[in-house]
Amino acid sequence: MTDLFSKFDPLIQQRETLLSTGLTDPFNLVMERVESPTVAICNGKRTILLGTYNYMGMTFDPDVVAAGKKALDEFGSGTTGSRVLNGTYGGHKACEQALKDFYAMDHAMVFSTGYQANLGIISTMAGKDDYIVLDIDSHASIYDGCALGNAQIVPFRHNDIEAMEKRLKRIPEGAGKLVVLEGVYSMMGDVAPLDRMVKVAKANGAMVLVDEAHSMGFIGEHGRGVAEAQGVIDEVDFIIGTFSKSVGTVGGFCVSNHPKFEILRLVCRPYVFTASLPPSVVATAATSIRKLMDSADKRAHLWENSKRLHAGLRQLGFTLGTEEPQSAIIAVIMPDLEKGAAMWEALLNEGLYVNLARPPATPANMTLLRCSLCALHTEEQVGEILGMFAAAGRATGCIS
Ligand SMILES: Cc1ncc(COP(=O)(O)O)c(C=O)c1O
Repeated sequence: MTDLFSKFDPLIQQRETLLSTGLTDPFNLVMERVESPTVAICNGKRTILLGTYNYMGMTFDPDVVAAGKKALDEFGSGTTGSRVLNGTYGGHKACEQALKDFYAMDHAMVFSTGYQANLGIISTMAGKDDYIVLDIDSHASIYDGCALGNAQIVPFRHNDIEAMEKRLKRIPEGAGKLVVLEGVYSMMGDVAPLDRMVKVAKANGAMVLVDEAHSMGFIGEHGRGVAEAQGVIDEVDFIIGTFSKSVGTVGGFCVSNHPKFEILRLVCRPYVFTASLPPSVVATAATSIRKLMDSADKRAHLWENSKRLHAGLRQLGFTLGTEEPQSAIIAVIMPDLEKGAAMWEALLNEGLYVNLARPPATPANMTLLRCSLCALHTEEQVGEILGMFAAAGRATGCIS
């Protein structure tokens, strides 16, 4: 018998070597209690959260929590069925209406996760004989959607407009083309030049899908994302998003103005062949989305936090993923995995949680400490965070 686990041996070895130094496992942390969107108890200690996707701090919003409790009481704990059979309740339709209102678009389809939204829309829209032209740094759910649909995958260098255009021009005349982009790339926190990319894609006869997972709620005048901020939202065919970040719960969606969009409810397998979201989840999502429409002050404060943290980290001597803050994510580049893990643990001991990210999730084999800010972090907390980075950075030799 060939042990099918043997392909994981290098990873098992790497992990054992790292943990043999006595290091806390960065991928096994338990949050013992969560006090607010910005503070939890980890290892018995008050810990500032700087590694969640709770960008707009909606998880403890009283209206959101109340909507979830009410739906749980009135509709029970789950639907036990697919959206196309017994799994569509009034709450699912209300959630889709909230999305249509939020984006000012004609159609919205709610999936059980953002991962499934990408899997479903990409695999259904681009099948065998079609071409998907995508940024090489695309999220795993985008790649998995490509694989599921069997389309030809044509990757191009990250954010490289000319490379994208060159690949589009090489595709045979008459073939179906889908360009897949993200608004904010979550590893480095950088933004795509969507204004130019969408125009080039359209000029070359492609349909365009933009994943706005990390920009919804925060970027753009109404929080619709980078496509809104750069003035091309009306030219985008599909926007994919998630409820697991700014919305503060779980779930995924696609919005579109395409007149034939509704047919997807019958042909999109990751929509049809899975159970729908529990009523409490869609109720919290709908309430949160409606509140995000009216959150300009929180968006402004989040930008302030992002600028303050970026400037402070740079001043301390850390190397950052972007020259300027472009989103709520600030990536601190570590020299290697060992140093990154040591710095991660030193920060945790200081009382700060950040995400440790390593290959293959990261571009160019980098190890990153990813900081994601929340609109509810106070100015004082950002000051505390910088103090912790200074102490941990000096203790581990990451800065002098
Ligand atoms: C760009 C992007 N798309 C999609 C997803 C999937 O979202 P979900 O957590 O809802 O499955 C993520 C999650 O990390 C993401 O970063």
